[in-house]
Amino acid sequence: MAEDLNILRSESKEEQYRSLVPQIKALIAGEDDLIANLGNITAALKEQFGWLWVGFYIVKEDELVLGPFQGPVACTRIQKGKGVCGTAWAKAKTMIVDDVDAFPGHIACSSASKSEIVLPVIKGDVVVGVLDADSEYLAHFDATDEQYLSKIIALLLLN
Ligand code: SME
Repeated sequence: MAEDLNILRSESKEEQYRSLVPQIKALIAGEDDLIANLGNITAALKEQFGWLWVGFYIVKEDELVLGPFQGPVACTRIQKGKGVCGTAWAKAKTMIVDDVDAFPGHIACSSASKSEIVLPVIKGDVVVGVLDADSEYLAHFDATDEQYLSKIIALLLLN
């Protein structure tokens, strides 16, 4: 397949996701290499939405370890229960943080980050990683992001 994405610029967030999700499905179809797929998913999300940072952390033993991402350099290891990512892991629950400065224990990888969404990647009933997105705008993420990012994680787990 051609690897060019069709990027929508002016449509609503929901329309942008509706256009992007099938393209991500096609991008990762038939590829079972996890790192390759995580890399393309983060690139596609960054290209469509232009968030400050988007990437995966992968559970390795008792820590989250930085995986494929797009954006500024980030902290490499996060403990369970620490920061937004470690909390999403410990609770196996999506965290939407409108103002990261108001989140106790938030780990500031970039001082430009103002809001954040973190979704657990759950295989069976085990959290195997998290998908993290950061924005330089307050309250940038909402239930629409959670809904469609969950779909993207589901596609990943099907592979
Ligand atoms: N802010 C995250 C750390 C990861 S960076 O945002 C890329 C946290 O509090 O867990």
